[in-house]
Amino acid sequence: MKLGVNIDHIAVLREARKIADPNPLDALGIVKKAGADQITIHLREDRRHIQESDAINIIKLSSMPINLECALSTEIIDIVCELQPHRVTLVPEKREEVTTEGGLNILGEQSLLKSTIQRLQDNEIEVSLFIDPTIQNVTVSKNFGVEWIEFHTGKYANIYAMLFGNLDNTHHSIPSLELSRATLSKMLKEELTTLRLLSSDAMKLGLKVAAGHGLNYQNVQNIVKIKSIEELNIGQSIIARSIFSGLEEAIIDMKNLLIR
Ligand code: PXP
Repeated sequence: MKLGVNIDHIAVLREARKIADPNPLDALGIVKKAGADQITIHLREDRRHIQESDAINIIKLSSMPINLECALSTEIIDIVCELQPHRVTLVPEKREEVTTEGGLNILGEQSLLKSTIQRLQDNEIEVSLFIDPTIQNVTVSKNFGVEWIEFHTGKYANIYAMLFGNLDNTHHSIPSLELSRATLSKMLKEELTTLRLLSSDAMKLGLKVAAGHGLNYQNVQNIVKIKSIEELNIGQSIIARSIFSGLEEAIIDMKNLLIR
């Protein structure tokens, strides 16, 4: 199974200070050395993390394929056609959201999607659609002639977190409040079955299947078992863990500089 590492979160930290560091470009060598297969970045309309200059440099300098996520916005698609990443994953985007909250509304935006996909493919860019796992989304995606689909695993991750961890409900779409463990277990099983069956259907239709959103070191295990999913794109949990796996060394380096 391939791993795309979403490095937006490095730019989130930089943009909090509006300075030069940490630069997501510096992650390229580490991501490659660590054995990942792809760099994923999201050029958002509000530029809250990755900037156009990041995307230009990352695409120019990466020896790994770049999967660029973006919204169905003419301004962004114009930029993306210039940038020529290996793949574009079309995602829904809302200014007020903290992160991409669901899959594309592919039925409601058919004509815009069709023309955007055509434009990207004319520019020799592979296209992926970030969709919620439903059979309708899979068949419509197939009809659009895209190479990839990526299933939004946010619902699965939220159910998992409610069952096994602490979920801050304020950011998530599933009202967890009074759900019993038995109900959550059933929901988790159903969501996994849906992902497994739809991935297999999509693969049989000739689509390549990726998945992502909210995957972490605990909940990823169930997804890895789904053979028809070729690739996962993971960001938050990897960057979050890297803070703690790197914090000790960072403090030692600074403390050493303080020795008189
Ligand atoms: N895949 C897509 C299409 C996304 O929009 C995101 C979030 O930017 C991810 C994967 C990675 O999600 P997370 O940061 O929760 O791992």
